[in-house]
Amino acid sequence: MSLAPQDLPADELARLGALAERLAREAGALVRDGRPRRVDVAATKTSPIDVVTAMDLASEALLRRVLHEERPDDGILGEEEGHAAGTTGVTWVVDPIDGTVNYLYGIPAYAVSVAAVTGPPVPGEWTVQAACVHAVADGRTWTAVRGGGAFLDGERLAVNPPAPLAASLVGTGFGYTVERRRAQGRVVAALLPRVRDIRRIGSAAMDLCTLANGGLDAYFERGLAPWDLAAASLVAQEAGAVVTGLRGAAAGTAMTVAGPAATVATLVALLEELDADDDAP
Ligand code: IPD
Ligand code: CA
Repeated sequence: MSLAPQDLPADELARLGALAERLAREAGALVRDGRPRRVDVAATKTSPIDVVTAMDLASEALLRRVLHEERPDDGILGEEEGHAAGTTGVTWVVDPIDGTVNYLYGIPAYAVSVAAVTGPPVPGEWTVQAACVHAVADGRTWTAVRGGGAFLDGERLAVNPPAPLAASLVGTGFGYTVERRRAQGRVVAALLPRVRDIRRIGSAAMDLCTLANGGLDAYFERGLAPWDLAAASLVAQEAGAVVTGLRGAAAGTAMTVAGPAATVATLVALLEELDADDDAP
């Protein structure tokens, strides 16, 4: 039997899955044990409220160091240090802390997110092969390998059955720029009267993983970066979610919508009607 380019042998998938989990747990231990009582901002990125802490940098450095020791020829794409191409066809897409603002304030919803992808490390072009999202504060750990199901602390996951939008708890998130937020405010204002309620957890990876274990009925967000999406999108898909964009596009920066197929169909139609993939106010 010949393997399609996106198919990996089972033993390689298992190796990638085990390393993803080891990386996420080791970086998670650093983030947890090294958190000072007051966290300082080390730098800002796209706007004054898009922050980086010393721990984002230290966690990514740990992930890069272990990857370099274990799989020196793979590529790495991380939030803080960007892309280093490899030669094996596997790229690790890592977020050293997803939910940095929660980390800053001591709100316990932040995670280390690690994925191994093949193909270009670009949403819609990659195939996510293995994933781990480790919630640092309480230790919950979501894992998945492609075709093998999704798990939370070893327990197999399934998304909630589809519900009407009016009975659906919908997670979302907001970007860091004023223009993006004006548009996101417009969309949320239109959506809020039509859903059970909205949740803004503050970590896109934990939103998608929470959807996988039935803690949300649906999720959408504009502006996700590859490291926000890679690992958690596989967890959600392996738990039975559809993860997609608007207007036939794949999930990605323009828009990500996730949930059971019927809920996603309704939500996508509504978000398209609202031009939720446009930053116009
Ligand atoms: C952010 C979180 C947040 C989402 C933002 C992301 P970061 O990631 O995932 O929930 O709304 O779009 O940028 O900055 O904490 O790694
Ligand atoms: Ca981050």
